Amino acid sequence: MEVMNLLLDDEDIRERLVAIFANQTSPVSGAELSEQLGLSRTAIWKHIKALERVGFTFEASTRVGYRLTTTPDELMSALVKPHLSLMDDRDLGGHILWEPERISTNATAITLASQGLPHGSVVTCGVQTGGKGRRDKLWTSPQGGMWFSILLRSPCALSQAADLTLLASIAVRRAIEKHGANAKIKWPNDILIDGRKVCGILAQMRSDGEMVDYAVIGIGINANFPESELPEALRERATTLLSTIGHPVERPKLLADILTELSTLYKALERQIGGFASVRDEWKKNSATLGSRVEIRVGTETIVGKALDVDDSGNLIVQMDDGQIRAVHSGEVLFQSRDMLT
Ligand code: BTN
Repeated sequence: MEVMNLLLDDEDIRERLVAIFANQTSPVSGAELSEQLGLSRTAIWKHIKALERVGFTFEASTRVGYRLTTTPDELMSALVKPHLSLMDDRDLGGHILWEPERISTNATAITLASQGLPHGSVVTCGVQTGGKGRRDKLWTSPQGGMWFSILLRSPCALSQAADLTLLASIAVRRAIEKHGANAKIKWPNDILIDGRKVCGILAQMRSDGEMVDYAVIGIGINANFPESELPEALRERATTLLSTIGHPVERPKLLADILTELSTLYKALERQIGGFASVRDEWKKNSATLGSRVEIRVGTETIVGKALDVDDSGNLIVQMDDGQIRAVHSGEVLFQSRDMLT
């Protein structure tokens, strides 16, 4: 827990440091910075060096001080937070922990969850070396993408757990649309543009009896890299925002928009006034699945038929080839058991 505090303190200082520079066009002196942050000038210098190592550049002159000259486009706390308006501790994004490289943001979030990471924290990174996709597939995660995991310590019943990811796909779709692309949802929670996948969601959770203890919602968005960087085998079915929109998106702002949308949806769910039923019409309007032929793997079984509808719990209603109607529970393909997390 002490390590966690240290980590958050450093993040906090760098956030405040970047905020001071962002509001200032003229150079800021070391003395001014040290007074505003209550730190020694040596400590300030160390934080400036740490920011330089992750892509910020400063113009430094001995007499007048520092001026921020380049800001990286990374999912760092200091860059995402200015776009968030956090009202209370149920809002998402209170802590954003960025590293240039992680094996998997889901894996880190699960580890930190057991060390007391608070609700709503977001684990992000530049590159993932072992990004996890569903069904134990590797998720290609190069520089330029958005790889992040949100920790939810929701007092939510296991039976409602599927709502967590279904709502995440609604939030991602809304936010992507704000950034210029017409995105659709492929059941249960892939986001597609022009029929090709740009975003996948992997939820992993730990349950305590009938209740969700915590859930980690991992979201991967193929954002600012060309589709030529995707493995060849995927290119027919997957694309990137850069290739479809034609220009890079502002990644910190897009993450903030997703967190803002999700906060509203999750807070309503927590207060028992939301849930999938409340966004079912929106989901149906933006569905890439309804009306088409589907093949769904549930454990060892494969369900083949026509997707007719989605019900209030997010189950896909499928008419199978023999005429039988089947409700497929989205949770069936989403979650891993407690054993796999511990
Ligand atoms: C899928 O297979 O569609 C789900 C892909 C989920 C990928 C994201 S990237 C951020 C988070 N960390 C991971 O290791 N996986 C998820």
